[in-house]
Amino acid sequence: MRRLLLWLAEKPWQRLGLLAIAALFPAGALALLIAASGLVPIAASDGHWRITDWFLHYTMQRSVALRAPAEQPPAATRQRLLRGAGAYELSCVLCHGAPGRPQAPFSLAMTPPTPSLAWKVGEWSDQQLFWIVHKGVKYTAMPAWPAASREDEVWDMVSFLRELGTMSSERYEELVFGSPQQRTPVAAPEDLRDTVDVCARCHGEHGNGRDGAFPRLAGQQRAYLLESLRAYASGRRQGGAMQSALAGLSDGTLRQLADHYAALPATSVDHDIGDGDVQRGSRIADEGLRDRRVPACGSCHEPNRPRSARIPTLSGQPAEYLAQQLRLFKQQRRGGSDHAHLMQPVASGLEDADIDAVAAYYASRQP
Ligand code: HEC
Ligand code: HEC
Ligand code: HEC
Repeated sequence: MRRLLLWLAEKPWQRLGLLAIAALFPAGALALLIAASGLVPIAASDGHWRITDWFLHYTMQRSVALRAPAEQPPAATRQRLLRGAGAYELSCVLCHGAPGRPQAPFSLAMTPPTPSLAWKVGEWSDQQLFWIVHKGVKYTAMPAWPAASREDEVWDMVSFLRELGTMSSERYEELVFGSPQQRTPVAAPEDLRDTVDVCARCHGEHGNGRDGAFPRLAGQQRAYLLESLRAYASGRRQGGAMQSALAGLSDGTLRQLADHYAALPATSVDHDIGDGDVQRGSRIADEGLRDRRVPACGSCHEPNRPRSARIPTLSGQPAEYLAQQLRLFKQQRRGGSDHAHLMQPVASGLEDADIDAVAAYYASRQP
């Protein structure tokens, strides 16, 4: 008792405060006392008691049900599926496993252990999966989506998760790595080979993209490529897959990557140009939209020569990608190089039909 009094007298204002709180909130004080005693077990190796496990999962289910958005998911397309699968292989497969791919042992040694998703996805609606992947789950190892503003990418992931429950290992391999004929390697410096192998899963061995799901890198302006890579690496441009793909790469490697892709020849590939009005797109590129103060795209981009090496070429890029970037600029969610602010006023004058038109026009041109 004497020691307790001495301890209390040591820093009187602090102790008095604690006593006052204890008097006002006895339950809180008890919890504090238990925490201070050090008796609460926190070893992940011990797992939870059954009842704690049940209680936490129940709380999580209720919380997700309350917060999941009401909006309908965008229509599932092969492009969405490919992007979702590619991002899953980068950021999720080690913990959750996939068809033909066991979970990493560490993911089962967590509390709670990481569930195998193929068994779990059926328990959630699309909107609930969206919420879990976007926000993550507190007090567990389940991370939030690293690019919080890219809800479009989270919906891509949901379209992949929806199929995961019934997916064969062959299908998973095809979605993530492409068919064998898509995998004919292209020359790259020896020390860049492993990195380029990762990029190739999505951007194709030859840098021309895959099935219109990913932007073309081959033949793009070198300075633009380098600035874009730096912008993702520093988080100035948000993209969950790209930020993960570049994690841990040095600036020297980013330079090598920009050199590598800028030097590859851009070949034309057949891809869907969407349902935008190509004629109208061509007019906007040539003349802009005077009444809405949209300058001619061609005053910076092709068909007139790009004015600066930091201005990307757009021709032959998938229409879906171009349209998505324009929408992101318009919503002020698209970062990039120091020149990216030039695009915001341009895109904010474009309406949905203009965006689809100009995207269709550039996608229909030869790269
Ligand atoms: C570091 C390991 C780890 C990584 C990486 C991870 N997760 Fe999880 N995930 C977990 C854990 C642990 C849970 C269980 C959470 C719980 O019990 O509430 C979980 C739960 C989930 C759930 C809910 C399943 C359920 O019924 O409990 C989904 C869906 C999910 N993760 C998707 C993903 C996706 C998609 C990715 C990649 C973007 C990902 N996770 C990355 C550890 C991880
Ligand atoms: C999992 C699939 C995936 C992988 C792997 C991947 N990327 Fe990407 N990449 C994407 C997607 C999707 C986008 C479009 C992102 C956006 O909307 O901002 C993109 C965008 C880019 C861009 C911007 C293109 C532009 O026109 O602005 C560059 C540059 C790029 N990636 C380079 C790389 C390099 C180099 C690697 C390898 C280190 C790589 N990517 C690995 C999916 C991937
Ligand atoms: C004042 C110069 C300028 C004008 C005019 C302009 N742009 Fe851009 N645009 C840029 C710059 C600079 C970038 C690169 C931004 C960055 O660094 O990420 C860009 C990027 C883009 C991108 C992203 C490309 C990619 O690979 O991710 C699209 C799409 C685009 N512009 C479309 C258009 C369209 C359509 C128009 C006409 C309506 C237009 N731009 C007019 C300067 C301009």
